[in-house]
Amino acid sequence: MILLTGGAGYIGSHVCMALLDAGLDVVAVDNLSNSNKASLERVQSICGRSLVFRHADIRDEAAIYDILRCCGVTAVIHLAGLKAVGDSNVQPITYYENNVLGTMRLVSAMTKAKVKTLVFSSSATVYGIPTYLPLDEKHPLGPTNPYGRTKLFIEEMLKDLHRSDDEWRIGILRYFNPVGAHESGLVGEDPLGVPNNLLPFVAQVAIGRRDKLTIWGNDYDTPDGTGIRDFIHVVDLASGHLSALRHLKEPGLLTVNLGTGAGSSVLDVVRTFEAVSGRPIPYAIGERRAGDVAICYADPTLAERVLGWKSTRSLAQMCSDHWCWQSKNPDGYRGAEHPERSSDF
Ligand code: NAD
Ligand code: UFG
Repeated sequence: MILLTGGAGYIGSHVCMALLDAGLDVVAVDNLSNSNKASLERVQSICGRSLVFRHADIRDEAAIYDILRCCGVTAVIHLAGLKAVGDSNVQPITYYENNVLGTMRLVSAMTKAKVKTLVFSSSATVYGIPTYLPLDEKHPLGPTNPYGRTKLFIEEMLKDLHRSDDEWRIGILRYFNPVGAHESGLVGEDPLGVPNNLLPFVAQVAIGRRDKLTIWGNDYDTPDGTGIRDFIHVVDLASGHLSALRHLKEPGLLTVNLGTGAGSSVLDVVRTFEAVSGRPIPYAIGERRAGDVAICYADPTLAERVLGWKSTRSLAQMCSDHWCWQSKNPDGYRGAEHPERSSDF
């Protein structure tokens, strides 16, 4: 049984499908602070298998310990966390409390329950401003915001944990820019309020929920002047977790990038989205967004060499699957929950 924290969220729901499709059993834990359990109801219907859902907070060590013991958990995939960069500048302590303290409590419960296999979702944001490209795992670390620092501190904590007890098997996955949705269009990203990230914003413009996109700067030193990122299909990203779990059969600690190795500009994304959706994406050019870097993309060769994993889906597929989800669910999961289902299932 795999415990998946943050299982009802965007990436969590896709990881859940990868695990169920691989024949593994899953207990998903989520406090639903940024998600809706309708995502997991849909996961079950897509996969034709049931999972266990527990409405709990990772900071509640006793609750997590009970779940680990009662469900017979053998490994944890830990995705629960707050992730809005701008918000983390305004409420840093909330971010440290939720992400760092939450991970400390989770790991403490795991230690007590003698569950010592952990896959953790870190982020390319730990690299900060690139000094060379592509970013490999040896690139110096220097996040430029509190959110990124929570990821860095957790990485360091996990390394100390592994040094203190070499029975631990730990996979630290540094995600680049996850986008897209499951091909069914039933599960996808459902941000609360105004989306911070590019793809959800573009998709909401395409569906008519927003008038236009603001492109944050077109004077970067890039071919078209707009920022370049390594967008990765969330289904490819999800399968990377399965590869990491399989790799952790032996004790050890592995830190690895999950990206495609290819950069696409903001304008590439806009044009690709217009082509696959057949909808215009009106945009205006705004000032650069504070904290943004010009170019960021991964060297994904370690993941291929060690995990035997690489991404396969194109930018067109990412945009097309994102559009399929957005057009089938213009208001996301709102109103989609099973009305008679209790909090846990
Ligand atoms: P998300 O917000 O959709 O999912 C996170 C989930 O964790 C949510 O369902 C939320 O309700 C839950 N959660 C938050 N705090 C919790 C707590 N204390 N206890 C229990 N549940 C809690 O975000 P996502 O995009 O699916 O991100 C998943 C993970 O991947 C996060 O840790 C995020 O930092 C990391 N990550 C995301 C991106 C990205 O661009 N989406 C990039 C790099 C890393
Ligand atoms: N952008 C716009 N307009 C928007 C939103 C974004 O022009 O409305 C641009 C940004 O300026 C940037 C690019 O689109 O050039 C991508 O921006 P995102 O906000 O989608 O992604 P970021 O690369 O800034 O950051 C994301 C997550 C971080 C994570 C990082 C690396 O938000 O948490 O990817 O994984 F750390």
